[in-house]
Amino acid sequence: MRNTQQIVKKYLYNSMPSYADHSVRVAEYMLRMQEILVGNGDLRFKAWQPDVLWLAGAFHDIGKIFVPRELLEKNVALTEDEWAQMRAHTTLSAGFLHKKVRDVSESSQYDEALEACIHTAMFHHERMDGSGYPNGASGEDIPLIARLCAVSDVYDALTADRPYRKAVSVECAAQKLLEQAGITLDASIVEPVFGNEANLARLSVA
Ligand SMILES: [Fe+2]
Repeated sequence: MRNTQQIVKKYLYNSMPSYADHSVRVAEYMLRMQEILVGNGDLRFKAWQPDVLWLAGAFHDIGKIFVPRELLEKNVALTEDEWAQMRAHTTLSAGFLHKKVRDVSESSQYDEALEACIHTAMFHHERMDGSGYPNGASGEDIPLIARLCAVSDVYDALTADRPYRKAVSVECAAQKLLEQAGITLDASIVEPVFGNEANLARLSVA
C-alpha cells in the first residue's frame, strides 16, 4: 500500500494539484460513508479494507493525466469531441492502473487493491438509470465500490468550488443527492448517508 500511495503523490500531486485535492477528498468521503453504512448494518460495505477503499478513491480520476490540461481547465462548455476526450479518462484510468498497481502492489493485497481501483476508475461515471459513461451500465451491473465513489464524487463536486461555479452548502448538496437517489445515484447509499442530518458533520473533511 505504501508504494501505491507514492504513485498517487507522484502522478497526481506533481501533475495536477487541484485534481489531487479532489481525489483525496473523494477517498476520504468514501471511507466516512463506509463507516456510516457499516454502522447502519449494511455489511456489503465491509468488503474492502479502508486502505484499499482509500486507494480506489484516490486513483479514480488518474486517467486525467492523459487528458489535455486545457480541457481540464476550460471554464466554458466543451465541444462534443472534447467531451469524448474527457469521458475517456475512465478507460485510460483503468489501463494505467492495470499496469502501475500491478507493478508495485505488495502481492498479498494485489488482487483486492487492483480490482477495487480498476472497478472504481472504470465505472464511477456510470449511473443507476444507464445514463452514464463509458458503457451506459445500470443498476447492479455497476460495481458497488463505483456506486459509492459516484456519490462521493458528486458530493465533492457540489461542495467544492469549480472553475465554472461556486460550491453549495452541505445541506443543499445533501438535498440534491437525495433528489437523485434511485435515478442516477444508488438510493441504498444516498438515503442512509444523506437522509440523516447528523451524518453531514461526520462527512466533513475540512
Ligand atoms: Fe471522473
